[in-house]
Amino acid sequence: MSARAVRIAPSILSADFAALGQEVAAIDRAGADWIHVDVMDNHFVPNLTIGPMVVKALRRHSAKPFDVHLMVSPVDPLVPAFAEAGADLISFHPEAGPHSHRTVQLIKSLGKKAGVVLNPATPLAAIEHLLADLDLVLVMSVNPGFGGQAFIESQLAKIAALRAAIDALGKPIHLEVDGGINLETARRAVAAGADVLVAGTAVFSGGPDRYANNIAALRG
Ligand code: DX5
Ligand code: ZN
Repeated sequence: MSARAVRIAPSILSADFAALGQEVAAIDRAGADWIHVDVMDNHFVPNLTIGPMVVKALRRHSAKPFDVHLMVSPVDPLVPAFAEAGADLISFHPEAGPHSHRTVQLIKSLGKKAGVVLNPATPLAAIEHLLADLDLVLVMSVNPGFGGQAFIESQLAKIAALRAAIDALGKPIHLEVDGGINLETARRAVAAGADVLVAGTAVFSGGPDRYANNIAALRG
């Protein structure tokens, strides 16, 4: 067991899209720490989801931090719209680029927290010269694009290496893990050093009556 406080960020990708406002309010009441919003463009990833207008409409359903995961390419043209829509944290993939350092500066210039997302095949070295500027690193434990995939074991070593790098820096950088999180992989990701867990399937399964139990169980 880790003494580290674990935050749970339900991914609304697994919510009922016909009732998104109520779903966000329900996970807020059920104890979600952050609201994770998966933005996909059918170009960087093979799926199409949520734009800034939807984020803006959802904003009044929860005062908790909106954790916006951009799976879009290019990144910069969409950042101001999501910032204005009410995102609190904005994360992007360096491969989507083209200029990661510039994107981090842009997000911060808009008063938002900045995160970089590492795909399963993306090495830690991709953010070696960026880590100190980040508020968040998100490790993908599935390939981005869809909920409900199986956790990729090899990412545990990356999480552990990142935890060591963050602790060596001594900065309060969040280490978030996204994809295939269930009761077992949650425990292993936290043991490896994660402090924020994204979970779609595991939070939304069983319907609204289960959300509080599901979130509490993941928190461990
Ligand atoms: C995948 C998304 C994840 C996903 C998680 O591209 O970034 O947030 O929805 O879903 P589960 O928890 O079902 O793996
Ligand atoms: Zn995500």
